[in-house]
Amino acid sequence: MPVIEQISDNTDELIAIRRDLHQHPELGMEEIRTSGIVADMLNSWGIETHRHIGKTGVVGILKGNNGDGRTIGLRADMDALPIDEKTNLPFASKTPGVMHACGHDAHTTMLLGAARYLSETRNFPGTAVFIFQPAEEGLGGARAMLADNLFERFPCDEIYGMHNNPTAKPGKVGVKPGRAMAGADFFDIHIRAEGSHAAMPHQSIDPIVIAASLVQQLQTIVSRNTPPIQPLVLSVTQIHAGSAYNVIPSDCTISGTMRYFDLELAGQVRSRMQSLCDGMASAYGITIDIKNREIFDVLVNDEALSHVMLDIAAEVVGKENVAVTPDVVTGSEDFADMLRVIPGAYCTVGHEGTIPLHNDGFFLGEEILPIGASIYARLIEQRTANG
Ligand code: NI
Repeated sequence: MPVIEQISDNTDELIAIRRDLHQHPELGMEEIRTSGIVADMLNSWGIETHRHIGKTGVVGILKGNNGDGRTIGLRADMDALPIDEKTNLPFASKTPGVMHACGHDAHTTMLLGAARYLSETRNFPGTAVFIFQPAEEGLGGARAMLADNLFERFPCDEIYGMHNNPTAKPGKVGVKPGRAMAGADFFDIHIRAEGSHAAMPHQSIDPIVIAASLVQQLQTIVSRNTPPIQPLVLSVTQIHAGSAYNVIPSDCTISGTMRYFDLELAGQVRSRMQSLCDGMASAYGITIDIKNREIFDVLVNDEALSHVMLDIAAEVVGKENVAVTPDVVTGSEDFADMLRVIPGAYCTVGHEGTIPLHNDGFFLGEEILPIGASIYARLIEQRTANG
């Protein structure tokens, strides 16, 4: 059973929706236009629509025609990234500095495509819950929806999500059962030292020299303190200090991210970072504060439901095109927060694009749209019935 015909017949409409969203990208928690379009479309298809769940989040509820059954949730993200698009596409972003460089425009479109088809056919028991989430890109959209009692108001038996994957061949679907994507912290280390005239460094406690040394010490955590067989990433991505050639500044901040798969190990790394900062502060007689924010949970796919999702995807793309993803990914995804509450699975779907996500030249192969919509639709048709 390939892509659903009724969905592929609407491919032109899906492409039009996706290109419109692509031209008008919105950053996390600012998806006013996008969520309005989503809500209007759901309404127009007779789907019960709830807005402002997690600020700009939208939830659609659709009952099938085949009596009682289970409730299955499908989730798509809606936000764009602070990137200046450089694709030269005729439908490139019209908003300078904002771009759908992670394909969330396509994710939203695929879920809309499934919602429309299901609203026309209603050939399932139970209930479909369409979850359009804001702010996936590190701004806590999933947590905002959960804080607005998403699953208390709309309890689901299972939930599913998907992400496009430009590094996989078109139509290839992968799921990693169990731990799949990394948990992520963002950290800011603030060094408060003493500035001086650059020609008289002995009158300073130079925060730049201290920062340079501290960055080197942070690198020893993964190389010397964490077990080699356990994946962990600690990347310093920003250093900010100074504004003149002849002034030693008084402050410096170091920022970055940790990616982990084991909660206990992550805790050990946080405490090691604290010790290194404390040691440097003590050695130089200054203050070093470290602020750590736990942004993403580890994404854990339910083992059994991972295979369920692969089997259902196989009906759309063919058995030869689905496979268990062998390795964990050090990238993060806030669908993890929802999967902590409701069991489910998250798959990736390949397309014709080859430029990586979060790149100003990112290109999405639109042949993915009816494929993703069909997988979403089949998940509802089959999982609402099966326990
Ligand atoms: Ni993404």
